[in-house]
Amino acid sequence: MIETVTNGRSGTAMQGFANTISEEDIELVVDFVRREFMQNKATNTRYHTVENGWPNHEQYAPAFPFALGAIAIDTLDHELSPAEQIGKRIFMQSCITCHDRARVNEEGAIWDTRAVSFPRNQYSHKKEARKKEAHSRSGGTENIDSESGASPYARHDRAPVLERVTAQIREGEQLFQANCAFCHAADGTGKNWIGSFLEPHPRNLTDSANMGSMTRDRLRKVIREGLPGTTMPAWKSVFNLKQIDSIIDYIDKAFHPIDG
Ligand code: HEC
Ligand code: HEC
Repeated sequence: MIETVTNGRSGTAMQGFANTISEEDIELVVDFVRREFMQNKATNTRYHTVENGWPNHEQYAPAFPFALGAIAIDTLDHELSPAEQIGKRIFMQSCITCHDRARVNEEGAIWDTRAVSFPRNQYSHKKEARKKEAHSRSGGTENIDSESGASPYARHDRAPVLERVTAQIREGEQLFQANCAFCHAADGTGKNWIGSFLEPHPRNLTDSANMGSMTRDRLRKVIREGLPGTTMPAWKSVFNLKQIDSIIDYIDKAFHPIDG
């Protein structure tokens, strides 16, 4: 081995190191290779070790098949077992930055383009807040979502917390948060990431200057018909009248009282 490291192997990519490393160092490195890899069969060629800052990497085991290419990452959720679905989510959130796509069934765009401050799939500020509370009670480190925490728009992605409201308002809340919050922000201000780019800005549904003179009739009309020349869509073929009334009840309760 010393001979090979010193003079190289002709006809292979193995070059000689006689001119770069001293004789003494060549002996040391050969000793190291023999001890670590040939005698101890050390596992330090693995990346996810405690030494590399990955204690208990086994906890991510459900994601391994996606990292190793055993399961293609564009496999649809309904074709995966519940455990595999969790593994895929872990992989997409925490591993793909380094592992890229180990294997896909269909080449092509696999990235979802999504605005940074718009809550990501499965993300819930409420859930995070509860986790954080539980953590600090147990003296653990705080579990803050740094991505949202760092964004000046993120606080507008939080819906007002409503307690003891009617089923109709809950329905309106669900419809608004699923369909309108994207532009108007979860808190109705339109000061979320997307909202700040639209021109004209989505109306601030909490601002008395606009909402002071708003009536239910006007709301019904504008939600049904949209506002031509702006990005405010017409919803009449999406929602029935009862659903639109639920949304109006929600706006009335959560953002600004509607007279008349
Ligand atoms: C900071 C970059 C990085 C991240 C993040 C990362 N990996 Fe790796 N991973 C690597 C490297 C580098 C290797 C070694 C690659 C090789 O040997 O080909 C590796 C190897 C692996 C291996 C092969 C066995 C081993 O331990 O070396 C598995 C399995 C694996 N990663 C799973 C995961 C999972 C699951 C996640 C997400 C929870 C993840 N990795 C996140 C860089 C990363
Ligand atoms: C694609 C972006 C977008 C979506 C989605 C959207 N809006 Fe709008 N909305 C706007 C914009 C932009 C305006 C402001 C237009 C203006 O200022 O002229 C607006 C205006 C409004 C207004 C004020 C109308 C007025 O006459 O003052 C109301 C109320 C409203 N939207 C409610 C909703 C509701 C309820 C939903 C969901 C069912 C919704 N919007 C979904 C972009 C959007």
